[in-house]
Amino acid sequence: MTATPVGSRRSALPSRLPLASRLDTARVMGSVVAPILARGVIIRRPGMLEVAQRLDADRRAVGLLQRLHDRYGPGPLRLRIPGRAMVVLLAPQHVQRVLAQSPVPFSPATKEKRAALAHFQPHGVLISSGRARTERRRFNERALDTPHAVHRGADPVAKVHEEVCDLLVRVGPDALTWDAFTVTWWRAVRRVVLGDGARDDERLSDDLTRLRAAANWAFLHPRRRRLRRRFERRLVRHLERAEPGSLAGVMAGTPTTGRTRPEQQVPQWLFAFDAGSWATFRALALLATHPEELARARAEIAGRDLSRPQDLPFLRACVQESLRLWPTTPAVLRETTEPTRWEGGPMPSGTSVLTYAPFFHRNDALPYADRFTPDLWLEPRSTQDWPLIPFSAGPAECPGRNLVLHVASTVLAVLLADRDVTLDDPARVRGRAGDGERLPGTLSPFGLMFRLPRLSPGA
Ligand code: HEM
Repeated sequence: MTATPVGSRRSALPSRLPLASRLDTARVMGSVVAPILARGVIIRRPGMLEVAQRLDADRRAVGLLQRLHDRYGPGPLRLRIPGRAMVVLLAPQHVQRVLAQSPVPFSPATKEKRAALAHFQPHGVLISSGRARTERRRFNERALDTPHAVHRGADPVAKVHEEVCDLLVRVGPDALTWDAFTVTWWRAVRRVVLGDGARDDERLSDDLTRLRAAANWAFLHPRRRRLRRRFERRLVRHLERAEPGSLAGVMAGTPTTGRTRPEQQVPQWLFAFDAGSWATFRALALLATHPEELARARAEIAGRDLSRPQDLPFLRACVQESLRLWPTTPAVLRETTEPTRWEGGPMPSGTSVLTYAPFFHRNDALPYADRFTPDLWLEPRSTQDWPLIPFSAGPAECPGRNLVLHVASTVLAVLLADRDVTLDDPARVRGRAGDGERLPGTLSPFGLMFRLPRLSPGA
């Protein structure tokens, strides 16, 4: 399906796409958009995520969009928002089209993202356009070795292995909490991205956290220019070391042009690893509550030297499944750069296009909607398949997906190598009474707690 330009004047485009009533628009804003904003788009607010979990907010949002689909048809459904043209996608083929035709005419660099990310990475690829985007995208793909399951230049595994072993010693027989896990995760991430010399630079991560907290408020928060300068100075010092085995080392040998701004691509790498930590912790919760899959994971890692790089397809699939069930980018946003034509009518330039990933990932039409089904990811998927888009898809798909899946699956493998795993409060994952086998619509990783007793020899 192609996007057909239908003229250049916005006023010449009377839209016939279905239009939500004022009440339904308010419902979408209240049940879909507001919870995403409340939880924090650029950095999560753990308290709000706990509230969302108690309300099972994502399941309610999916239910609402299903009802709107029944009422208005496949859309795209226009919302009545004063001063902003906005649609929500309700049909799989529309999602496929929008993602396949990014960045033109469906640009990832939406007004909202530009306002948020300009707080700390105004030249990042995600909010770039035109030639700058093309060149920054190429740089990202080369440095992150996008197509390969195991990065051919950097070696994250030895660093991750060391940090997770250290975590297991620190935790001992006590519960593995989010706080303990996250300290390890960030040490490992700083080593993977910037090299061993950055392992203990918590100041760098703290500064980025504060910049991201400002970015959560997008236009509404003043820029923190001094903080950003300090963060960038520290970052550049690490990059200049270009440590072999780290992404900084790979970057140093990656071709650039005057437009690339390589140092401006790195904050996205650092902050995007956050989503990897939630996905990993949730995947551990899934494994702790699904003995059959846990046994398959054990069979995959049995007898392997986990300090060496290797692909772990089943554990990768578990992480992908954690991301399907609880996508860390629930709202995939695009903005039209020109008018486009749809079966239902034209859509003007400058329209904000919202894909709410949980609506597609957890749709009632899917037999596996609310069940842990890692096998989904072990078969090749095509762009024509039902959209499961935790990493988005198409030309603007996450270029770090293989790297983060490699890191996350390695973390799980090392945690489980000679340990059993139990979850302190399995009801958080198994869902509420009466929900049968349905996994909860929302799962906060921050309240999960595990026990990891040593397996007896021969177990
Ligand atoms: C589980 C972890 C991650 C998830 C779920 C994830 C997901 C995504 C998604 C959905 C997008 C598209 C966003 C949009 O269209 O608005 C994206 C973009 C991007 N991600 Fe990731 N990501 C993850 C980790 C990473 C990591 C670790 C890196 C780098 C090391 C990375 C680098 C990027 C970059 C550079 C973009 C922008 C791509 C572009 O605009 O062309 N991501 N990611």
